[in-house]
Amino acid sequence: MTVVTALRTDGYSPILVTGGAGFIGANFVLDWCASQDVPVVTLDKLTYAGNLHNLAGLQGDKRHSFVHGDIGDVELVRPLLSKVRPRAIVNFAAESHVDRSILGPEDFITTNIVGTFRLLETVREYWTILAPREKETFRFLHVSTDEVYGSLTSDANPFDEGSPYSPNSPYSASKAASDHLVRAWHHTYGLPVVITNCSNNYGPYQFPEKLIPLMIHHALSGKPLPVYGDGLQVRDWLYVSDHCSAIRAVLRDGQVGHTYAIGGDSEKSNLDVVHAICDALDEERPSGKGSYRRQVTFVPDRPGHDRRYAINAAKIRQTLGWHPRESFESGLRKTVRWYLDNSAWTDNVVAGSYRDWLGQNYSAR
Ligand code: NAD
Ligand code: DAU
Repeated sequence: MTVVTALRTDGYSPILVTGGAGFIGANFVLDWCASQDVPVVTLDKLTYAGNLHNLAGLQGDKRHSFVHGDIGDVELVRPLLSKVRPRAIVNFAAESHVDRSILGPEDFITTNIVGTFRLLETVREYWTILAPREKETFRFLHVSTDEVYGSLTSDANPFDEGSPYSPNSPYSASKAASDHLVRAWHHTYGLPVVITNCSNNYGPYQFPEKLIPLMIHHALSGKPLPVYGDGLQVRDWLYVSDHCSAIRAVLRDGQVGHTYAIGGDSEKSNLDVVHAICDALDEERPSGKGSYRRQVTFVPDRPGHDRRYAINAAKIRQTLGWHPRESFESGLRKTVRWYLDNSAWTDNVVAGSYRDWLGQNYSAR
């Protein structure tokens, strides 16, 4: 077990964040430490998507410690729980990219299904022997996705907590399976769980395999902007810090056994998103050769591509008083500026195996 920094708890019992070196997890850990004193332990396997540089802002901060490991490694997680004695676990750890799940589904089964199962069992063992008060207040928050509900037609109502599960990709099927396991561990064993199902996130530290950072990176590098199919697929975009504030609200006040749908009420077609990125870059960093829009290139579609996702977030808004702070326009502008100001982060990430991924995913399109 690698403990990079020694944890100082000052009497607070910590939270354990799994997958906290990835995109949303790192934003969550950074926002958490910026807003409160409750210490955090991050557990992350550091796959291609995990990056310790994302947490560099916490170097030397004794409220945070990092452990390198796999959620499915019972021999590591069991003593970690005994030592840290977390009051809550927020489970971000997953394989998260749909295109990778299509080209190689096995890692998705291993981490998202088997890993979640093993984590649930290890957590159940820990939780069962907690003192009554700690047992009652403990929470296992599982971070999931709107993709578990499948695809919407253009005139259908947005997904909500009652929508039937209908996952279409290996990624979404593996996340759906993990949601079912988490729900069952509550129903059968009483483990105090909450589940969040969120729409598409964007913002700082997102790996440039996902639509928005990939388009920013390609635009600035003078490469084609590969739009799948007709580009009219719709996603509901949420700035990452708004997702993090929603998770904090659910952790604090969410009802045990409940699910919370989270979204930005911000449906956009992919083509509109790509054009908005080009327009923002045209203002912030003009290419000198005309608009970045000229780099847009239509490429063959993603197999099984879901046409539309949208979320009705009325439950979390009405019961927990959560609402997003950023509009798509303000969030996208912040994101574009972040990538412009942090080109060293992208340069570091795109070195090495990322280039192999671009070859695998785009050369045959
Ligand atoms: P990401 O791919 O950027 O990060 C995943 C992190 O998990 C990485 O740091 C990786 O090293 C770590 N990890 C992977 N396997 C692990 C394992 N076996 N043990 C420990 N750590 C492991 O993903 P993200 O976009 O930050 O997504 C985080 C979570 O949020 C995922 O569960 C995803 O399904 C969910 N989610 C993502 C979005 C989105 O738009 N990105 C939207 C809704 C829900
Ligand atoms: O809805 C939540 C989900 O959003 C999360 O659960 C996933 O972890 C996250 O990856 C994201 O999934 P998507 O498949 O929607 O995101 P992605 O960024 O891969 O693609 C967004 C849309 O853009 C999708 O319709 C495919 C399209 N696309 C994507 C890429 C990478 C392109 O047209 N071209 C591309 O090069």
